[in-house]
Amino acid sequence: MQSRGPLMIEHRLIERMIALLAQTQKRIETNHEVDPFFIDAAVDFIHIYADRTHHGKEEDILFKILGTRDLSAQDRMLMDELIQEHVLGRETTRELVEANARYRNGDRAALTALAASLGTLVSFYPKHIEKEDKVFFPAYMAYLSMEEDQSMLNAFWEFDRKVIHEKYGAVVQELERRRQGHSPRVTAAAQM
Ligand SMILES: [Fe+2]
Ligand SMILES: [Fe+2]
Repeated sequence: MQSRGPLMIEHRLIERMIALLAQTQKRIETNHEVDPFFIDAAVDFIHIYADRTHHGKEEDILFKILGTRDLSAQDRMLMDELIQEHVLGRETTRELVEANARYRNGDRAALTALAASLGTLVSFYPKHIEKEDKVFFPAYMAYLSMEEDQSMLNAFWEFDRKVIHEKYGAVVQELERRRQGHSPRVTAAAQM
């Protein structure tokens, strides 16, 4: 398998979540209500799967290695754009979390913010995936030897292996903090 294999497989699952987010956005607009537990589950998916596991491999391994290569101006520009889109994804998810908390506390006006955040994710993320799958991933192969590509694939598997421990390590740490009487602030990695 080429190193882009697992990244593209992950894109397919992220697309399925985006489809659910799109349906939710439409339902908010039609029914003027949302299930906050659905938003919690979607946010957990975005934090741990889309951002930590998937963007983590792209940013901490792939983009880092490519940063040491002599990329064409076009490929470098595209890589910067992809990084900026990850930042936008994080900001939008933060807004989604805030709006969901407000809605849960009875603020009906938060529905507009919820729908807007969902709308942002639904509109930019499929294009982000398409740019990676069809343009950037095929292009980056030119900067790596077959051996380097395979060693990156191995680094991806190793990265994945660590995420589950990181996630549940953070969950236990957060529960311990709460037991010790600290404020119930939930870290991104521990958020469920
Ligand atoms: Fe990406
Ligand atoms: Fe991606």
